[in-house]
Amino acid sequence: MSSTADPCQAPLGVFDSGVGGLTVVRALRELLPQESIIYLGDTARVPYGSKSPDTIRRFSVEDTQFLINHGVKAVVVACNTATAHALPLLQTTFRVPVIGVIEPGVEATLADGRAERVGIIGTAGTIRSSAYQYALAMRRPGLQIHAAATPLLVPFIEEGWTDHPTLKLVLKEYLDPLLEKGIDTLMLGCTHYPLLMPVLKKMLGRKVRLVDSASTCAAHAKEVLHQHRLLRRSRGRPALDIFLTDLSEQAETMARRFLGADFGRVKKASL
Ligand code: DGL
Repeated sequence: MSSTADPCQAPLGVFDSGVGGLTVVRALRELLPQESIIYLGDTARVPYGSKSPDTIRRFSVEDTQFLINHGVKAVVVACNTATAHALPLLQTTFRVPVIGVIEPGVEATLADGRAERVGIIGTAGTIRSSAYQYALAMRRPGLQIHAAATPLLVPFIEEGWTDHPTLKLVLKEYLDPLLEKGIDTLMLGCTHYPLLMPVLKKMLGRKVRLVDSASTCAAHAKEVLHQHRLLRRSRGRPALDIFLTDLSEQAETMARRFLGADFGRVKKASL
């Protein structure tokens, strides 16, 4: 493989439990347009958010191994649930840099010194892991942190109901307790939630700052590639290869929505 000659030329690997992680790919392509990307979505086993920590770790190792077998120079764990449970394991198991979504989101939140009461929403697995809560508390002791598992949001988003009245009712039910605590920042701790930005902005107005992990993760990935001297210099056209563990028309339609662009043929991955 040519990547052994010049590691910078190798693609960046990204994985998620499904196609939601393409929101991270979208952000990566905006910030690092010269990088080739191999994306793996584990559509055969999605969701991860309701699985046990052991299972999430096992799946995450298999996903990363698939990307390593395809010669990637670094791995971005686009899935919040996988980051929450498996990031340290992946970082010690594999030799390439492994980048998660949680730390960058936490940094972006705390970059605004005015953040005093922070709300976090994510899958049951992410919230149960306390990974966000821990990372925030470690960096800013005394910060008020209010986390809520919001498991109904992923199915709504996958159905394309991102502006539906029923979704708004569900969001209100989930967010009211956080708003009652006076949160000034809301962290969107799930791959899918960037698609809720418009509705959340309308609902929350300017009172609450929204932090999504996709764009902050892309900025962090750029920094890590730079530190490891792995940024691709070539101006040649970068490739985007999308692999899914289960192929279906619905997954492909969703993938287009999450990526916000069209792409070539999706390939079937066997782990
Ligand atoms: N990708 C997951 C996350 O960011 C959401 C979907 C799932 O539960 O697998 O947490």
